[in-house]
Amino acid sequence: MCGIVGYLGTLKAAPVLLSELRCLEYRGYDSAGVAVIEDGQLAVLKAVGKLSNLETLLSDVQPRATVGIGHTRWATHGVPNDENAHPHLDCTSTLAIVHNGIIENYVELREELMEAGHQFRSETDTEVVAHLIEDELKEDPDDLLTGIRRALHRLKGAYALGIVSQRHPDKIFAVNHHYSLAVGIGVNETFLASDSVAVCQYTNQVLRLEQSEIAEITTAGARLFSFAGVEVKRNPVELENKQFVLDKQGHKHFLLKEIHEQPLVLRRTIGKYLLHPGKKINFAGSSAHGNYGVHLSDAELARIDRIKIVACGTAYHAGLVGKYIIEELCGIPVDVETASEARTRRLLVDNRTLAVAVSQSGETADTLAAIGEAKNRGAIILGITNRPDSHLSLVCPNLLVTECGLEVSVAATKTFTAQVACFYLLALYLAERKNLLPEDRIFALKAELLRTPALIERILANQDDIREKSIQYSDAPGMMFIGRGIHYPVALEGALKLKELSYIHASGYAAGELKHGPIAVLDERVPVVALTIPGTVYEKTLSNAQEAKARRARMITVAVEGDELVRKTFETVFTIPPVSEFFSPLISVVPLQLMSAFIADHLGKDVDQPRNLAKSVTVE
Ligand code: G6P
Repeated sequence: MCGIVGYLGTLKAAPVLLSELRCLEYRGYDSAGVAVIEDGQLAVLKAVGKLSNLETLLSDVQPRATVGIGHTRWATHGVPNDENAHPHLDCTSTLAIVHNGIIENYVELREELMEAGHQFRSETDTEVVAHLIEDELKEDPDDLLTGIRRALHRLKGAYALGIVSQRHPDKIFAVNHHYSLAVGIGVNETFLASDSVAVCQYTNQVLRLEQSEIAEITTAGARLFSFAGVEVKRNPVELENKQFVLDKQGHKHFLLKEIHEQPLVLRRTIGKYLLHPGKKINFAGSSAHGNYGVHLSDAELARIDRIKIVACGTAYHAGLVGKYIIEELCGIPVDVETASEARTRRLLVDNRTLAVAVSQSGETADTLAAIGEAKNRGAIILGITNRPDSHLSLVCPNLLVTECGLEVSVAATKTFTAQVACFYLLALYLAERKNLLPEDRIFALKAELLRTPALIERILANQDDIREKSIQYSDAPGMMFIGRGIHYPVALEGALKLKELSYIHASGYAAGELKHGPIAVLDERVPVVALTIPGTVYEKTLSNAQEAKARRARMITVAVEGDELVRKTFETVFTIPPVSEFFSPLISVVPLQLMSAFIADHLGKDVDQPRNLAKSVTVE
């Protein structure tokens, strides 16, 4: 994970680096630092903790430098402290480096470099790169590009780097090896960042580094080289010049703002592909980053007899809902696997498999590796992402884009519902093109899908009641979430939200599994949250809830308005507007998102940036 930034131009570098870092804080927030070159001298400033600590330090020091690199960290090697914070230096303290990723062979390199006399200051894998470049520069200290190239040939792993050297105060070097880096080209100034969002504050001319490329950045722009040293010619693309506005729009947290954006986000995402129940789903599309949309040929569609979904975290739960949706509508077998597992074993896919990667960021290392493997094995590839400019879009010839705007809060909410909406659209698209369902059924389903955003609005209007009901469970040592059928993934997502936001341990279970072990945990201190929406599994779930209640668990449910039966079993009822079982995941997850947010806030937790997490997990 981690975020890398750079600036070279006529402005003071520190405020620019800080504003770029602010856009990347979602990638990690253990510590942050910058290296600037002022009056020919390299200076490094670092602060452990949130970016605001570095901001305070920089406002005290006020560097005048107009060139620098910066970093926001999510610790992998070494605890978060000043020593392990980036940038890292070589022995002479004239070369500084920032890094995202993992250097897999750092232990052997470190030993070798230490034997050769290099002095290390941190426990990080990153620091070896600074010393290695220093070593490779011995022959010709002025040829930094060659020194970097030679060092890269000794590294194993996946990484993105930003490098500055006191000997070259008019340059920044950037390296991309299986990550993302964007260079923003301005007038007499150039920007660097792990995410184009950060450079788009300043310029819409963006040059993305492709795999295994080095950029030599000056105020005039960037020259690109392969690791072999061959110059690569590529023009910048023009991106939409979106300002990254950190505005909570009156909400206490970004999380709450994003939960409230869900009706809008769903209207945009669904509306982009489906205008009217009487119209066909239209997955055509294109963007500045290349074509996106779904371009499956008739032959490919006819071939698909299996679907494999890979994803991590919340996106994995969206994939699990997707399985129920597609199997129900299309009768095509779907299996869903966490990408970290899928990538480490024999992936049984072939050219009849549609492999679907779901990733908000489009940068999750495990998801990229798993879908890359599926592609190598000949599967038909489709991605669902919120970032059409991400790495995932380069891998996926078919891409559905959720229209969520930036999700700032680390815990995913609006992107979950938008991903689930994409699965409804995908299932309807497959049913339509493969002639799997009668037209009137497809019409009715589309009409219902288009109505779902309005149902969420009704829940949000009731949030004060949800807050009041939720916070009475804030002292619970743990919670259990149960659901059957299509509600089971929602239970998993409810449990994940509570863990992420409040640090209260929570487990999600298929309601029928409760009696096979988990019920041992229950007593009057452990509340159980059940999803009881009328439909095929309603009665069975109520029976499972009764079993929990008999163990004195405090019972909470998500149920539809007017359901009086549930009041006999549950002490707390979060009501949602009447909705069919099939579409209910889009709706029933909302009270669970709000409950977790309110409990976390009540407990004084950092709701938008929970401890130990990062939004984009670019390490394995
Ligand atoms: C991290 C985030 C989660 C997210 C997961 C997958 O763990 O903290 O909120 O669900 O990554 O992220 P992706 O960008 O691939 O959806």
